[in-house]
Amino acid sequence: MIGSWNALPALARASEQLAAGTPLLDSIVSGISLVEDDPDEMSVGYGGLPNEDCVVELDAAVMDGVTHRSGAVAGLRAVRHAARVALEVMRRTDHSLLVGDGAHKFAALLGFPEENLLTDRARKAWLDWKANLSDRDAWVTPDQAASSFGTARWAGRAGSGLVAPEMLAPDAPPPKVPFTYGTIHVSGLDAAGNLASCTSTSGLSYKIAGRVGDSPVVGAGLYTDNAVGSAGATGRGESVLQVCGSHTIVARMESGDSPIDACLFTLKKIAERTRLTHLRDEKGRPTFNVTLYALRKDGAFGAASMHEGYEYAVLENGKARAERAAFLFAKD
Ligand code: GLY
Repeated sequence: MIGSWNALPALARASEQLAAGTPLLDSIVSGISLVEDDPDEMSVGYGGLPNEDCVVELDAAVMDGVTHRSGAVAGLRAVRHAARVALEVMRRTDHSLLVGDGAHKFAALLGFPEENLLTDRARKAWLDWKANLSDRDAWVTPDQAASSFGTARWAGRAGSGLVAPEMLAPDAPPPKVPFTYGTIHVSGLDAAGNLASCTSTSGLSYKIAGRVGDSPVVGAGLYTDNAVGSAGATGRGESVLQVCGSHTIVARMESGDSPIDACLFTLKKIAERTRLTHLRDEKGRPTFNVTLYALRKDGAFGAASMHEGYEYAVLENGKARAERAAFLFAKD
């Protein structure tokens, strides 16, 4: 299994479950539930950073290689285990994606507990963000996209218990408040050679209510094809959506790319198609980060980030470890 930097505990639990005979996708979702429970992981599940109305909205998706089926929820409120709800969408419905009130009603009917997902820490972060607004919100003028929203970097590091550093302006000072596109992704390959994946997130912090990123969209935040491989994405969802990121990675692997080359190809595509000036630095490089993950059917794997300095999680032979991701742009 491979995953985002914050997936190490998820991989450990998923590995235990798999060893005990739980199917691959259920094991992955169980591992991700552990991270959704963690109030200190402010980009996933309970304790995730809220939207601009101070409400936590979760997005998640699963994809199963054997059946080539998927399930997803978007804008889910008041239910912490978004990945489990996504799995139920896949198993119990003929649909692929439920959103907002419909997703919430579906989860309630299945008996998922309802609760306030906003922790005190996340509420205080929202208050700080609100107090520091100006050009740091998501609203832009139609003719001039001038907001600097989404270009600041949170100083937290992998494993620090702080917000994922997915907001990257390489030399920007850290903002005063936690700010994130952080997400958890896991792709896995079992002993029978079958693949599965899951992605879960509270999405872009302080987003406009109803904003949905790449995570719950099949082909963007994740994609699994049992004949080829599995892929996922974290980071700026809008940019991943606009190139169908995870599908592109799997298609490149099908054409013969190594997992890392497939990720780098997709990152290059994102970089070349980032035209808005507020999303490019003086050298034309994207001011944000995206990290992409790829696992091939034969067990080859890799991950790459837009910018240097990111890690990802790997589980091989029952042991989880962090590895450096390849990158498109080196630090100056
Ligand atoms: N990649 C997560 C998001 O943009 O919502």
